[in-house]
Amino acid sequence: MLEIINLSVQVGKKMILRDINLVIRKDVPAVLFGPNGSGKSTLLKAIMGFSGYEVKKGDIVFNGKKINDLPIEKRVSLGLGIMFQNPPKITGVKLVQIARFLSQDEQKIQELAGRLSLRNHLDRDINAEFSGGEMKRSELFQIIMQDPQMLLLDEPESGVDLENISIMGKALNDYLKKPGKSALMITHTGYILDYVKADNGCVMIDGELWCVGKPKEMFESIRKNGYGKCKECLHVQGRDS
Ligand SMILES: Nc1ncnc2c1ncn2[C@@H]1O[C@H](COP(=O)(O)OP(=O)(O)O)[C@@H](O)[C@H]1O
Ligand SMILES: [Mg+2]
Repeated sequence: MLEIINLSVQVGKKMILRDINLVIRKDVPAVLFGPNGSGKSTLLKAIMGFSGYEVKKGDIVFNGKKINDLPIEKRVSLGLGIMFQNPPKITGVKLVQIARFLSQDEQKIQELAGRLSLRNHLDRDINAEFSGGEMKRSELFQIIMQDPQMLLLDEPESGVDLENISIMGKALNDYLKKPGKSALMITHTGYILDYVKADNGCVMIDGELWCVGKPKEMFESIRKNGYGKCKECLHVQGRDS
């Protein structure tokens, strides 16, 4: 579904991502690990086409179509959707208004809002005065209403308590179980792995990406040995292969 080929991305004057290669197939979500500042959010934003994330080399191909030069709204209409690490607060627009813009199905809106404990938030301005966890649930609510084929999730569970991670994880899993969906998910805590089936794990270190194994095993190894060890191994593997 999504193919990233030799992608190098510059932000400001700095080359942040170098020669990224990644393939995400439909029905096979992938997980992205990596230390702070390694370039994970940059990769997601470059895939969406945010301004300031300049593709210097390589291609982003979505369902066989090169999307490098398309504006964000076109990428959204093709089926890409992003859940931000730090969602913007929007005053003057209520959560229910966005939901009704994204879907005509009032029952679906009410059902999902109920499921994500957001019924009382529907009439409030988006993310304004929401707690950290409420903001993340509101983001998940909006992205599911948008109904993208490929979900880009930037630390969906960060700042969310365990009970709400469970609520979000289950809603996300139900969404990704629908045929033809896929995702690229960044996680630090690994909690989301308890809910969402993902077969492909990748790690980003200093702007370079390796896709090497099963996410749960990788997460355990990172937890035990840290990213430093990860880096040593990957560089040896990289040279050998
Ligand atoms: N708009 C920007 N201007 C300058 N540097 C940036 C910008 N956005 C990100 N960076 C830098 O790019 C690097 C990667 O950032 P980011 O992709 O947010 O990392 P991660 O999500 O892995 O923590 C960091 O060194 C960060 O400071
Ligand atoms: Mg980030």
